Amino acid sequence: MLASVQSAAVQGIDAYGVTVEVDAAQGLPVWTIVGLAVGGVKESRERVAAALVNSGFVVPHKRVTVNLAPADRRKEGTAFDLPIAIGILVATGQLPAAAVDNVVIVGELGLDGSVRPVRGALPIARDVARRAPPYTLVIPPLNVAEAARVSRLALAAPATLAQLVAELRAGKFVAPERPVAREDPRDSCDFAEVVGQEAAKRALEVAAAGRHNVLMIGPPGTGKTMLARRLPTVLPELTEEEALEVVAIHSVAGALTADAATTPQRPFRAPHHSISGAGLIGGGSSPRPGEVSLAHHGVLFLDELLEFPRHVLESLRQPLEDARVVIARASSSVTYPARFTLVGAMNPCPCGHAGDPASACTCTPADAARYRSRLSGPLLDRIDMHVAVGAVPVRELGCGARGESSAGMRQRVAAAHSRQRRRYANVFGDRANAHVPGRWLSANTKISAEARSMLETASDRLSLSARGYHRVIKVARTIADLDGDPSVQAPHVAEALRYRASAARAE
Ligand SMILES: Nc1ncnc2c1ncn2[C@@H]1O[C@H](COP(=O)(O)OP(=O)(O)O)[C@@H](O)[C@H]1O
Ligand SMILES: [Mg+2]
Ligand SMILES: [Zn+2]
Repeated sequence: MLASVQSAAVQGIDAYGVTVEVDAAQGLPVWTIVGLAVGGVKESRERVAAALVNSGFVVPHKRVTVNLAPADRRKEGTAFDLPIAIGILVATGQLPAAAVDNVVIVGELGLDGSVRPVRGALPIARDVARRAPPYTLVIPPLNVAEAARVSRLALAAPATLAQLVAELRAGKFVAPERPVAREDPRDSCDFAEVVGQEAAKRALEVAAAGRHNVLMIGPPGTGKTMLARRLPTVLPELTEEEALEVVAIHSVAGALTADAATTPQRPFRAPHHSISGAGLIGGGSSPRPGEVSLAHHGVLFLDELLEFPRHVLESLRQPLEDARVVIARASSSVTYPARFTLVGAMNPCPCGHAGDPASACTCTPADAARYRSRLSGPLLDRIDMHVAVGAVPVRELGCGARGESSAGMRQRVAAAHSRQRRRYANVFGDRANAHVPGRWLSANTKISAEARSMLETASDRLSLSARGYHRVIKVARTIADLDGDPSVQAPHVAEALRYRASAARAE
């Protein structure tokens, strides 16, 4: 008899329906899985057979053929274990066919028959919620938090294969408890803990307000890492739409905790410089989102920037340009969103003390030049802001003078953010200044005569490229937004020019 069970598979950060067909026929007891099954799917035979036996069911001494339709899409992972097991029970008459009407089943099986979590439960839930007639989605208990983000979808989350069979026979599912959002799981770090560094804090506020990529350069121990880690505390809350994307990416990556599923925060990713290109950008034989996608709608912090191998840094160019990553494969290509704010930190020279009044630089000019040349022009070109972070005088550090807290900064950032949102809603959608075309901004921003002449002068003096010119305008626009000024004025341009690479280095 031929059994048919509805399931689903993940492609990129979306999902699509898969029908698991199981045929049990007379013949030698061999199992075959067809339908472009790769990796974990092929091993599901062993898991399913053990889970069936250990749950008290009969494993047929028959020729079992499993077909995953549509057959032209590659299927990987372990989420078909559970629908295959149920299909076998139907095909061998241990469960009536009608019991699997109107359910979609995904889940990995442990050898003992326990139901284990899968990747991509949120995209799967979104896909199932769109299907008609309405289905009940059977998912592993550990995936309930993310699937529950999709409203109006009936869920079942049996802990074991035996429990699922009992519920299918009864035609009644125990609705899983939906996790409640915690108050505020955000770490309690705050900009108030940073002593001094007012200029760097101001620069990070500008970067947060316009989502500008920013590079901090300064001697070791001046608080660069400390500053960067506090950037998320001033970023605006995720919108509902952004939150869904963030959860979907982490869901597909298999990197989602229940807390992150119920109360997602703007991501802050800080990969170590030993990360591989695939780890940073995404990829692999069964593609996963990389750090750039895990940082989508948030911050990607690359500490000790020049310790990252050059080819790894170069691979950032495409996502920085396109806000997404396309992983091309023989059979199909996968796209992951990757709109992140890049924050880099680095020493000014190999010894770390160039320009440091506290201790002398021991590098030769050639060493220092070679060091900096590791940052290629094209990457530098995509970093809107450069900030020199100098040493805080010891006496200030000692007295523990407290600077402004994150709360005040966050308020100004939020106000600047809503100005941008209003300005771009009908043109680009929900965008920040860093993410709109420079040409458009230059043509559509009111710039005072004084500001414009300052721009022209600077453009000649610094021989700004067209790209560099637009970049200054973008940053100036953000500074004006923080000021609540509808037009860009001379002081806004003057501050934006201080964040030019050459200016930051001269300090
Ligand atoms: N401005 C500062 N205010 C308070 N503490 C600081 C400051 N700068 C440095 N520190 C202290 O020094 C340590 C090293 O700072 P860190 O952020 O790692 O510096 P960097 O990344 O520039 O090398 C921090 O853990 C912090 O305790
Ligand atoms: Mg550091
Ligand atoms: Zn040096």
